[in-house]
Amino acid sequence: MRIDIVTIFPEFFSVLDVSLLGKARTSGLLDLGVHDLRDFTHDRHRTVDDTPYGGGAGMVMKPEPWGEAFDDILGALSSGESAEQATVIFPSPAGERFTQAMARELAEEPHLVFGCGRYEGIDQRVIDYTATRARVREISLGDYVLNGGEVAVMAMIEAIGRLVPGVVGNPASLTEESHEDGLLEYPSYTKPAQWRGLTVPPVLTSGNHGAIAAWRHEQQLERTRRVRPDLLN
Ligand code: ADE
Repeated sequence: MRIDIVTIFPEFFSVLDVSLLGKARTSGLLDLGVHDLRDFTHDRHRTVDDTPYGGGAGMVMKPEPWGEAFDDILGALSSGESAEQATVIFPSPAGERFTQAMARELAEEPHLVFGCGRYEGIDQRVIDYTATRARVREISLGDYVLNGGEVAVMAMIEAIGRLVPGVVGNPASLTEESHEDGLLEYPSYTKPAQWRGLTVPPVLTSGNHGAIAAWRHEQQLERTRRVRPDLLN
């Protein structure tokens, strides 16, 4: 999978060098390009924002640098790929909500491009114009406001990247976790069986695989009912 990120804080994404995603990059499973939006400006101050038309607080990201950045990324596609095959994602608290199902869907895409907005957002024409050349989605991490899209994009790339075949060594560990079957995951335990007066639930050391599976499912239901009843509907 190819991933491009456009941001005014490219150094933010240096953490993608470590852990499983770092390994996936080294092995070629993930091909990542981080682009500094200011490299597409032409003034001495490398300006990326301006005051909003119609007035109001804060600054809006100017369309020109974004247009040039996307021209560069979508215009220089590898042989055989057309811009329509790229999905451009704008993280935004005004977007559709990011879910595990969406992560699964996006993990199938050959090319994702993330545009990290800051300030009061990006000039709407950037999103409208980009939608004439590629698939565009505005995606929110949740019902709260971040200072910019970078943290949201990091979270999305981690959630999507680990679903790309080969990135996580043992694929079984991807199926038995929260949200994969619409429920929260069951609690896990490891050795020692006794720790600070707390004991591992006896069923887990019984060797009875049917009973263990039933207990885990019941734990999932109980936890989901208690913490996230909305998931049960
Ligand atoms: N940018 C600012 N807040 C955001 C959010 N909640 N999700 C995605 N991008 C954002």
